[in-house]
Amino acid sequence: MELRIQLIPTGEIILAPGKNGENYCHSCKVVGSDGVRAMMESALTARDRVGVQDFVLLENYTSEAAFIENLRKRFKENLIYTYIGSVLVSMNPYRDLEIYTKNHMERYRGVNFYEVSPHIYAVGDNSYRSMRTEGKDQCILISGESGAGKTEASKKILQYYAVTCPASDKVQTIKDRLLQSNPVLEAFGNAKTLRNDNSSRFGKYMDIQFDFKGAPVGGHIINYLLEKSRVVHQNHGERNFHIFYQLIEGGEEDLLRRLGLERNSQQYQFLVKVSDNNYTDLNSRQNQINPFPPGVSSINDRSEWKAVKKALTVIGFNEDEIEELLNIIASVLHLGNVQYGGEDGTACITTDTQIKYLSRLVSPLNLEQASSARDALSKAVYGRTFTWLVNKINASLAYKDDSSKHYSVIGLLDIYGFEVSKTTGNFEQFCINYCNEKLQQLFIELTLKSEQDEYEAEGITWEPVQYFNNKIICDLVEEKFKGIISILDEECLRPGDASDITFLEKLEGTVGGHAHFVTHKLADGKTRKVMGRDEFRLLHYAGEVNYNVMCMSENKILNQCFDREELSDKKRPETAATQFKASLAKLMEILMSKEPSYVRCIKPNDAKQAGRFDEVLIRHQVKYLGLMENLRVRRAGFSYRRHYEVFLRRYKSLCPETWPNWQGKKQDGVATLVKHLGYKPEEYKMGRSKIFIRFPKTLFATEDALETRKHGIATKLQAGWRGYSQKSKYQKLRNAAIVFQAYWRGILARRRAQRKRQAANTIRRFIKGFIYRRKERCPENEYFLDYVRYSFLMNLRRNLPKNILDKSWPTPPAALVEASDHLRTLCMQNMVWNYCKKISPEWKHQLEQKMVASEIFKDKKDNYPQSVPKLFVSTRLNGEDINPKVAQCLGSEKMKYGVSVTKYDRKGYKARPRQLLLTNDSAIIVEEGKLKQRIEYGTLKGISVSSLSDGLFVLHAPSDDNKQKGDVVLQSDHVIETLTKLAICGDKANNVNITQGSIKFTAHGKEGIIDFTPGSELLVAKSKNGHLSVLKPLNPHLNQRRSLP
Ligand SMILES: Nc1ncnc2c1ncn2[C@@H]1O[C@H](COP(=O)(O)OP(=O)(O)O)[C@@H](O)[C@H]1O
Ligand SMILES: [Mg+2]
Repeated sequence: MELRIQLIPTGEIILAPGKNGENYCHSCKVVGSDGVRAMMESALTARDRVGVQDFVLLENYTSEAAFIENLRKRFKENLIYTYIGSVLVSMNPYRDLEIYTKNHMERYRGVNFYEVSPHIYAVGDNSYRSMRTEGKDQCILISGESGAGKTEASKKILQYYAVTCPASDKVQTIKDRLLQSNPVLEAFGNAKTLRNDNSSRFGKYMDIQFDFKGAPVGGHIINYLLEKSRVVHQNHGERNFHIFYQLIEGGEEDLLRRLGLERNSQQYQFLVKVSDNNYTDLNSRQNQINPFPPGVSSINDRSEWKAVKKALTVIGFNEDEIEELLNIIASVLHLGNVQYGGEDGTACITTDTQIKYLSRLVSPLNLEQASSARDALSKAVYGRTFTWLVNKINASLAYKDDSSKHYSVIGLLDIYGFEVSKTTGNFEQFCINYCNEKLQQLFIELTLKSEQDEYEAEGITWEPVQYFNNKIICDLVEEKFKGIISILDEECLRPGDASDITFLEKLEGTVGGHAHFVTHKLADGKTRKVMGRDEFRLLHYAGEVNYNVMCMSENKILNQCFDREELSDKKRPETAATQFKASLAKLMEILMSKEPSYVRCIKPNDAKQAGRFDEVLIRHQVKYLGLMENLRVRRAGFSYRRHYEVFLRRYKSLCPETWPNWQGKKQDGVATLVKHLGYKPEEYKMGRSKIFIRFPKTLFATEDALETRKHGIATKLQAGWRGYSQKSKYQKLRNAAIVFQAYWRGILARRRAQRKRQAANTIRRFIKGFIYRRKERCPENEYFLDYVRYSFLMNLRRNLPKNILDKSWPTPPAALVEASDHLRTLCMQNMVWNYCKKISPEWKHQLEQKMVASEIFKDKKDNYPQSVPKLFVSTRLNGEDINPKVAQCLGSEKMKYGVSVTKYDRKGYKARPRQLLLTNDSAIIVEEGKLKQRIEYGTLKGISVSSLSDGLFVLHAPSDDNKQKGDVVLQSDHVIETLTKLAICGDKANNVNITQGSIKFTAHGKEGIIDFTPGSELLVAKSKNGHLSVLKPLNPHLNQRRSLP
């Protein structure tokens, strides 16, 4: 889509439609543009190109016609809001415009008001932001005549705050209560009038309190002069206060029964009476019926009733309080139905026998007086109830955290509008109009007069704008001693009978010459025609109004009913007028202390009709509201001014030379700052003590820059603060860690010291114990002794002998010698036992043989030790080694052992190989297949063997007869084994002689001797002396083999 950019008179940039002819435009802000939002605003702004959004932009700004024309153009397009600078002019559209949605609120939130189309929300937002940024209390003054839309405007602002301000749960309640206070106050204080179906019949000033976060936290309402006369009579076409109709139309059956009411408003005099506004003719009016039905098309009493009840609950009324309140309302209706009769001219109650006794109260009065008293009572009851209601709402809105008082305030003033009517006004209208005069005065003071005065004072070139100052009328009403109120007071409080005529005369006497005061007597002929003799006319700034003197002194009756002294202790009681004057003065004070914003409401027609633009009516309002003068001052003047100091303080951060501090004169500082910001000469002027900025645009641009700058500064502050807080956090952690460390180190050190102490103790005890170790057991040595024992046992446990042959055993301490011996024995037994358990039968047999060998040879024969490790075999000759003939000879005799031996003859000692066989009962020497010699064990006398390591042995057999061959000299390589076997078989263990020297033997009857001598090698030979000489080598092991044949 193509877009064209176009600058329109309102100062906005328009993105015009593209080729495809779409019908909407987009607007952007000139300053501080934010694309997205600009798009969103498009629809509204595009329509708002009709006329000018701000009258300041009107080319012909002095022409009233151009002014009206601009209003008309915009009104036709339903653009009801237009600015005059910062003043909002609002036209009542009399139709729902759908410009008050949440989206609209969002659009205006936080946006400078010249950036978006004019709206009541923009005014609300502007005040809110001024309050937040400058910290100054604000007030929004809404003025205009009755039905111009003041109350609606104030409600819209309240709703805006309720939606857009930050909120918490607590704040939500306050928001709800603030919002709900409206329907309640409207029910009790609003009524249908000719000008407005929902006309406020009281003045209202409402403070909204905001906390430092900008959230609404409380509120306070001040009410002004309720139009109580409405309770007892209403003008033709008007109604009483809404609440009466709401109660009767909407009240539940039950409730009505309890209150004694009927669901028919026609039954109640106060709701059907109409007045032609002539107060004197009370009784004649009583029976007139209100031609307007109580139900009015724009009013739905039934649904309003529900809303009011709900609102009452939200505000905090309980069921009982609501019922009590309604009781009073009902009693007022009942009171209205009290009728008087009486033939003799004095009043007595005719309506209800039950309350006839009340007549005593009124008995000295005549009929008229009695009715007046009844009405006065009704009004007073209603009026006081209304005040009570306001107080109750205030209590519910009160900012609870009042201690700090740190809240800012936005005040909303919605006071009854100016009432210009063709008919005669009463006292209340007089007050209302007086109040409007005062507000106009305030407006003049703050916008026209003071502004111009200021330009002059500041030395700004300025051409004064002429305007009508209504101070003269205010003075007429309120001046001390000479004003109407003073005269009224005097008349009312004067002893003796005050009559209305004397009051009028007194007025004529005192203010008769005043340009804005006229009576029948003083008037010219034309005016006389429209004035009663008991009337006076005031030429208000907004129009002329006649007031009836009788109505003015109406409060005399009130004075009779309610002693005013109860209200004030002053000697001279105050009249209602003086009270009102005082309360107005107070209101002015409140408003003056705040920064005002204005909403000027205009009523387009008297018929409450949408779309009707009654030019005469509107011109009149434009005139008396002083809008033209306002525009002229605005156009020539400056929208913003601030003392140099204040301005510099706020914006100094925007210029390097003025930030953070400007040392010179403030004015020079501002000049430097403004130059830096690039203000053009026509945009501002420098006064004596203030800077004046012509367009809000310029200021807002500066504000935007400040906003951006603030972020930068805030970031710096944040960084600084974060750094600081992190540092202190770190410092804290560090300190904590050091404390922990110290503590832990302390623990460790104490533990170490403890251990050292223990160790030292142990060593000391040890040494002491060592010294005392030989003493009896005593405290000094018991530890040591125990330790020694303990360590011996522990050591023993580790070093027990591994096997039976291991004879090692730790040396026991003295105290454990006996135990050690026991243990040793036990240990040995245990090992032996284990060993024995493991021995096989063969091994046992082997060992038994070894035992025998040991018994015979141990320590006796030299080669015994060598034989020990060699196992004995069962036989050294097997079946195949034995000649079969020998085996035959042996027959059944079983050979138990056989071994090859060498036999030495007696003659020549020749060595011959033989076999030695051992059987059950004989040793047999075998040569080849022959049994050469059998020696029965019984005959074997003994066995001789040398103690040396040779293998020779001699078997001693008997030789007494020749058959017997006698002793045999044999040599075996396994001499120990062979002789052991022989000893076992023949049971000859005790018969083995081991001789040291020579062995004698007898064979074949001849004796022989064997000599053993040690030599280098084994040699068995016959020596020269005829002996058998055996040379035994030193190392028997080596030589045994050589001795073998
Ligand atoms: N902004 C508005 N939009 C639509 N209708 C409005 C608006 N302002 C006023 N009205 C209509 O005008 C009537 C009178 O307005 P109100 O505020 O009560 O007048 P005031 O308080 O000035 O006497 C309202 O009841 C309502 O119907
Ligand atoms: Mg109103």
